[in-house]
Amino acid sequence: MNDMHAAPTEKRIATSVLVIGSGGSGLRAAIEIAERGGDVVVVGKRSKSDAHTSLAAGGINAALGTMDAGDSWQQHAADTIKESYFLANPHTVEIVARGAERGIDDLVNYGMPFAREEDGRISQRFFGAHTYRRTAFAGDYTGLEIQRTLVNRAAQLEIPILDTVYITRLLVTDNTVFGAYGFDVETGTRHVFTADAVILAAGGHNRIWRRTSSRRDENTGDSWRLAVEAGGRIRDPELVQFHPSGLIEPENAAGTLVSEAARGEGGILRNALGERFMARYDPERMELSTRDRVALAAYTEIKEGRGTPNGGVWLDVSHLPRETIMQRLPRVYQTLLELQMLDITTDPIEIAPTAHYSMGGVWVRPDDHRTDVEGLYAIGEASSGLHGANRLGGNSLIELLVYGRIVGAAAAAYSEHLPAQRRSETAVEQARAEVDGLLGSDGAENVRALQRAIRNTMTEHAGVVRDEAGLRAGLAELAEIETRMRDIGVHPDIAGYQDLAHAFDLKSAALAARATIEAALERRETRGAHNRSDFPALDDTLRVNLVWSGPGRIAHEQIPPVPEEIAALIRDVSTAGKLVE
Ligand code: FUM
Repeated sequence: MNDMHAAPTEKRIATSVLVIGSGGSGLRAAIEIAERGGDVVVVGKRSKSDAHTSLAAGGINAALGTMDAGDSWQQHAADTIKESYFLANPHTVEIVARGAERGIDDLVNYGMPFAREEDGRISQRFFGAHTYRRTAFAGDYTGLEIQRTLVNRAAQLEIPILDTVYITRLLVTDNTVFGAYGFDVETGTRHVFTADAVILAAGGHNRIWRRTSSRRDENTGDSWRLAVEAGGRIRDPELVQFHPSGLIEPENAAGTLVSEAARGEGGILRNALGERFMARYDPERMELSTRDRVALAAYTEIKEGRGTPNGGVWLDVSHLPRETIMQRLPRVYQTLLELQMLDITTDPIEIAPTAHYSMGGVWVRPDDHRTDVEGLYAIGEASSGLHGANRLGGNSLIELLVYGRIVGAAAAAYSEHLPAQRRSETAVEQARAEVDGLLGSDGAENVRALQRAIRNTMTEHAGVVRDEAGLRAGLAELAEIETRMRDIGVHPDIAGYQDLAHAFDLKSAALAARATIEAALERRETRGAHNRSDFPALDDTLRVNLVWSGPGRIAHEQIPPVPEEIAALIRDVSTAGKLVE
């Protein structure tokens, strides 16, 4: 452990490609680079075995047709575009849908234990709003098994992964990235990484709501802040997916996910009156409607007084065979026993919508996820383009695999062809001074309390249903929090430098909150997960992506047309029942 007051040790590490984030997308990209013989270093702020991907539960999509032979990549693409409310970039969607089978093959080759039918076919289950059974899985531990598989493959390739490094800033000169600055959260040792290319794979921003499926200190908006400070932009920050089924209790685990697999396997939703309320909101698809509609339905039931005593609705799987629950929903079973001593084979689960996924993210080009900054790439939940206004469950995991491979290859090629790396000592000096400045701050404001204040603001004013007055009130509260942030105290102690990490998380959360609220104000319509009670209809002129490049700066970006081959497969789905009031 460093003496807190001694001059910090600073290490220099040079590599061809630096990957920030050790979840599924970061590891898949690093594997691609290493398999091509490239030089890569991965850093993460928490242990690679515990990266956020390990929480992903119910499955990963690919039109394998193992259960329903009629499926095709084109139908997968059509479902994705339709359910994105036409905000997904068709080119991005095509790349993912076409590449999905290869993504699954890669995992199988790395040893992924997918659930299989007796004859050996990979099993596939229904997830909401898919035309066919398309979601491959490993119980409801799919993300955990993917993470384990990728960690093992990375170990075989001897990829260096630094588990406790917090990146504070990207190093940029002349709009070209040349590395990143950070510190070790345990020892405080500083790190200057120099690299030809940097891949940002540090997740989204859904931890800035009070009830969220992310754990403490993850998905705090780091990717967004790092990108914007480097000269990048954020596409569709307002489009946040609220998953219908988050736990309500206990308070310290509020928002913990109950996988959509529970509904995929036949789970039923009821209100406090015992009514199967989805009949009112989407009678055709019922519990297998899209996430935006199920979340809004649950929200409406609760708001209109038909919720449970704790402010939720019931999700019941107790009618399913015990064997189905134990084999296909083991994590839900265990989680409820551990957190609530509840046996889901006999009792219903009390749930409510939970902030789950950033459907927007760093602006990237569809082809290879290059950002506005030369040499900087973004992938996974950090990036944008695939999900539009409503993500299909299971599409995030396949995106990690498909774009992990593509971006790894692109970054390796960029590095190989870079004639010389430009660096700037001034940029390094500024990054160093920023950390020094925070470490020297001894103000009265508590970082954790301010993080909590942001979560309260986002929950009160930018949740499932929004309106102008609430969003404006949210902006005013945020401005106050930003002012208080000038007077924070940062106090690392002998346990480590976590308080410094929290201070940077707070900066990220504030930026992400501002981007989200400003874009939510700009999107004066209801589309997918973005429900404006003061603008309850779709507005065709807003069939655009909103691109945020800093406070008060939002541009409208046109979306390319959907190719005929895919458009022909888009089915009409009744929107009767989707009412925002
Ligand atoms: O409910 C779930 O299992 C979540 C899946 C996803 O977000 O893709």
